[in-house]
Amino acid sequence: MHHQHYSFEFEVYDSVDQLSTEDRHLLLEARKATAIAYAPYSDFKVGAAGRLANGKEVLGSNQENASYPVGICAERVLLAAASSLYPEVPVKTLAISYHNLNGNSDRPVSPCGMCRQSLLEHETRFKSPIRIIISGMEGKVYVIPEAKMLLPLCFTNEDLKIN
Ligand code: THU
Repeated sequence: MHHQHYSFEFEVYDSVDQLSTEDRHLLLEARKATAIAYAPYSDFKVGAAGRLANGKEVLGSNQENASYPVGICAERVLLAAASSLYPEVPVKTLAISYHNLNGNSDRPVSPCGMCRQSLLEHETRFKSPIRIIISGMEGKVYVIPEAKMLLPLCFTNEDLKIN
């Protein structure tokens, strides 16, 4: 028996002002996209903005439903939109922000487990990492080099292959 260790590094910025011009733009778009969320049940509005390998930008926001489990997170709305508009093109960077009923938030929140699995599928499908930028409407920003890092011991299409 031996112990295995898992860890990963990500970047931490004090505010959006410290980001590169491109990353700052994308995070500001994600913050703006919280306004197009449809979240009458949770009042938790999530906005996402993705930049694709062809330079195009795609937005996403959470879309809830009176039948609660039918609702979709902003990240998966964005991935579905991006892959429908540009089926051959990977998302390279994805910025996510959110706010609650009070309209503000000052710390990053991470994608939920289902979205992590969805992001991983996109990375696997295109063999291309997705950089994740997360932040509230203000305050610290985390930049995670690839979504896969958020899912240790992940399950992928490789695991479906029969030896
Ligand atoms: N939500 C997202 O859009 N992304 C996440 O990663 C976490 C949760 C949404 C789902 C639901 O509409 C609301 O936030 C509260 O959970």
